[in-house]
Amino acid sequence: MERKALVFIREKFEGQSVVGAEVGVARGTNALCILKCMPNLRLLYLIDPYEHYPDWTSTRAKDRLYWPKDLRLIKYQAQQLLSPFESRIAWINKFFEVCTIKDIEPLDFIYIDGNHACDYVLKDIAVARNIVKKGGVISGHDFHPDSPSPDSDEVYKAVTTYCQKNNVSFSHEYEDWWFIN
Ligand SMILES: C[S@@+](CC[C@H](N)C(=O)[O-])C[C@H]1O[C@@H](n2cnc3c(N)ncnc32)[C@H](O)[C@@H]1O
Repeated sequence: MERKALVFIREKFEGQSVVGAEVGVARGTNALCILKCMPNLRLLYLIDPYEHYPDWTSTRAKDRLYWPKDLRLIKYQAQQLLSPFESRIAWINKFFEVCTIKDIEPLDFIYIDGNHACDYVLKDIAVARNIVKKGGVISGHDFHPDSPSPDSDEVYKAVTTYCQKNNVSFSHEYEDWWFIN
């Protein structure tokens, strides 16, 4: 199913040549949906280190699904799933917080779905603001105040704190949030 922020992005950039990124790709199912739904998406950066690290404390990271051997399998599955779109994707196997404009060209949109811990989402938003063009869209997943979970509580805290502190007006619908850079 196409996610709400991505519907907004698709409608905003309809008919234009677009460059975007997903932070946190996992098996690539959401990336596949983005590529299929937006034929005018010229390039999608796929940013995911596929590495386990102590700071990654999201609920799923703690369970077996994201153990190192499973991360290798997930990476392989994503590569296979997205291989038909080879000419429209660029893999960046790095932690997003160390990415700069040297790694990624200026973006029309970004979709953040990596480490859901509040500090990481705050870092992701700060990095995204430097990489996304003015007037582009910064967005992400797991914002659902109506059905809280440990992950969504962290995302909620990060997005609301950042936006309040920086006087940014944001939108949210179902499980997604977004604002214009
Ligand atoms: C929730 S999953 C992504 C799901 C995917 N967006 C989807 O909807 O199909 C989280 C992913 O974030 C990646 N990740 C964890 N920490 C990250 C970081 N600091 N930077 C980028 N990606 C990260 C993990 O390797 C994992 O694959």
